[in-house]
Amino acid sequence: MKAMTVKNIFVHATLIFGLMIVSGCASAQLIRPTAIWPDNRGQHIQAHGGGIIKLDDTYYWFGEDRARDNERGRRYVSCYSSKDLAHWTFRNQVLKLADPENFGRGWVLERPKVFFNAKTKKFVMYMHIDGPLPGQNGGYGLARVGVATCDTVDGDYQYLKSFRPLGQESRDIGQFIDDDGSAYLIFESRPTKGFFIAKLSDDYLNVEKEVSFIKAPLEGGAVVHYDGLYYVVASKMTGWAANPNVYATAKSLEGPWSEFRDIAPPETKTYGSQSTMLIKVVGTKTNTVIFMGDIWKPSTQWDSRYLWMPLEIGDGKLRLPEPREWTLNIKTGEAVIQK
Ligand code: GAL
Repeated sequence: MKAMTVKNIFVHATLIFGLMIVSGCASAQLIRPTAIWPDNRGQHIQAHGGGIIKLDDTYYWFGEDRARDNERGRRYVSCYSSKDLAHWTFRNQVLKLADPENFGRGWVLERPKVFFNAKTKKFVMYMHIDGPLPGQNGGYGLARVGVATCDTVDGDYQYLKSFRPLGQESRDIGQFIDDDGSAYLIFESRPTKGFFIAKLSDDYLNVEKEVSFIKAPLEGGAVVHYDGLYYVVASKMTGWAANPNVYATAKSLEGPWSEFRDIAPPETKTYGSQSTMLIKVVGTKTNTVIFMGDIWKPSTQWDSRYLWMPLEIGDGKLRLPEPREWTLNIKTGEAVIQK
């Protein structure tokens, strides 16, 4: 065997060390709940009240873009992509919508969620559309959903229409895609004192069928299908102020649903956050469910933060651990919370 020269050893060591750094960065990027979350441009991610879809091995995160320099009359949705749920690349402001139906000055676009329809090959965005009713000065009187579509995931979405799903008032919306690919819209409906899980039509352009009505005055609804059970997480209705979020379980999406229980010590008010979505990462070793929450800053919304944590979940129980920095191995599905 040829003896290694000092130079060779140095080159090898540098290469191995370099590889360790690269692979370390790729798999062990810290996710930092409550901190500024910079995108690939170094700007705080603008995807509040968001939703995530996965296409092949890429995740796309859509949400309210509340950047400070946005035009006042328009409402914005931005899209980011990631392969590891930690590093996010800004793709596009997929919606820069001027008031599309004369809703009025205080019109609202919140909690956008994008679904991919495999039959029509269209991307379909649902959003909470709201604003004052005629004669009112402000507020959330319209209580509708809006729909916009696009041929590509991160192209410019075209606004189509708004309506009240199943004829009901609809405010906070959530999205759920079951393991069989079925797409559901979750929507809160105040007069019913509860919220709906409803199936979308074949082309996803309509909300077709009530699957479950959960009689609990909750919003920010999110569902995950984990180990044979459905878990729903939702928040109480306290506007931008945090409250103790709760969960319930059911064997079938139709229910019956269990009683609601706290996901975290109630005095922490969900550690200052509000539920938006639950993401299941299916790995080679384990599956991890991530709680995606928003920490709202009503007077500086561009600075609203994210609280993402891996949940303790199983056997009908769910717990949001105290927020700490953590890492996710997207291949194995393992999440490690820092000490
Ligand atoms: C919250 C809701 C947010 C936003 C806010 C306005 O209850 O979850 O999306 O609508 O109220 O006060």
